[in-house]
Amino acid sequence: MPKLGFGVFKVAAEEAVGTVAAALQAGYRSIDTAAVYGNESEVGRALRESGIPRDELFVTTKLWNDNQGYDATLRAFDDSMKRLELDQLDLYLIHWPIAKSGLFVDTFRALQSLKAQGRVTSIGVSNFTRANLERIIEETGETPAVNQIELHPYLAQNDLRAFHTAHGIVTEAWSPLGRGAELDDPVIGAIAGETGRTVAQVILRWHMQLGNVAIPKSVTPSRIAENFAVFDFELTDEQVSRITDLDKGSRIGPDPDTFDVGAP
Ligand SMILES: NC(=O)c1ccc[n+]([C@@H]2O[C@H](COP(=O)([O-])OP(=O)(O)OC[C@H]3O[C@@H](n4cnc5c(N)ncnc54)[C@H](OP(=O)(O)O)[C@@H]3O)[C@@H](O)[C@H]2O)c1
Repeated sequence: MPKLGFGVFKVAAEEAVGTVAAALQAGYRSIDTAAVYGNESEVGRALRESGIPRDELFVTTKLWNDNQGYDATLRAFDDSMKRLELDQLDLYLIHWPIAKSGLFVDTFRALQSLKAQGRVTSIGVSNFTRANLERIIEETGETPAVNQIELHPYLAQNDLRAFHTAHGIVTEAWSPLGRGAELDDPVIGAIAGETGRTVAQVILRWHMQLGNVAIPKSVTPSRIAENFAVFDFELTDEQVSRITDLDKGSRIGPDPDTFDVGAP
């Protein structure tokens, strides 16, 4: 799985083909979409039109909340694959746990069946808490390959990251730039000055050095390229710590324990 991918949440369908094409041009090979983003068809079209061989691409999509449950998940997967026009998916994620519906274990069993059929290579989850993960592991005997969670300097997720590491789960950071809100931070600004890089590059480099997968989004071609140029410099351990110390546990998105939009 590439360490740096491209996210397309809030990329409108009409601009998604051009935006994904710009990302592929800049060097990204991993694209993160979801059924609920409404742009799977356009992502699929951009991938096909790029001419990049399928085995060089890594495509992730996610099951939306209203399709949790064994049979509904299998149908929703087929619908996503028809929109993407792909035969095989690299990573399928359960978008939110919706623990109160009590369906995520059956939903994960459907993902296991898709994996057994070879229709998806890896299966994982998103926005799962430690308790949710423990339940999946205990009841299905399988550890999700990935947990995609909100993670940026103001929400460093140290405990959940440690749990992931202990269980071999890849930590994938959504809103890795804090949706732009952390680009004015004075500490990260100072490190940008020390390294001669932009604040966005410093934050993404911090993710790389923590071992996270990150999926920044932008519809701006210069930023798309800027965000990919993070493999030719390094932060010192002290710079990494100064950023990690900014953690204040503050979320941009909803709390996974209570979020239930679209819950069945
Ligand atoms: N699993 C989940 O529940 C979940 C939830 C949210 C997001 N995600 C995934 O994570 C991806 C990224 O998260 P996100 O889109 O919320 O936030 P993000 O990537 O942290 O930030 C995107 C925002 O930052 C701006 N930006 C990007 N690069 C910049 C740069 N170099 N300089 C200045 N501004 C910059 C973008 O503006 P412009 O676009 O105007 O350039 C956009 O407003 C999503 O696209 C989606 O794939 C998953």
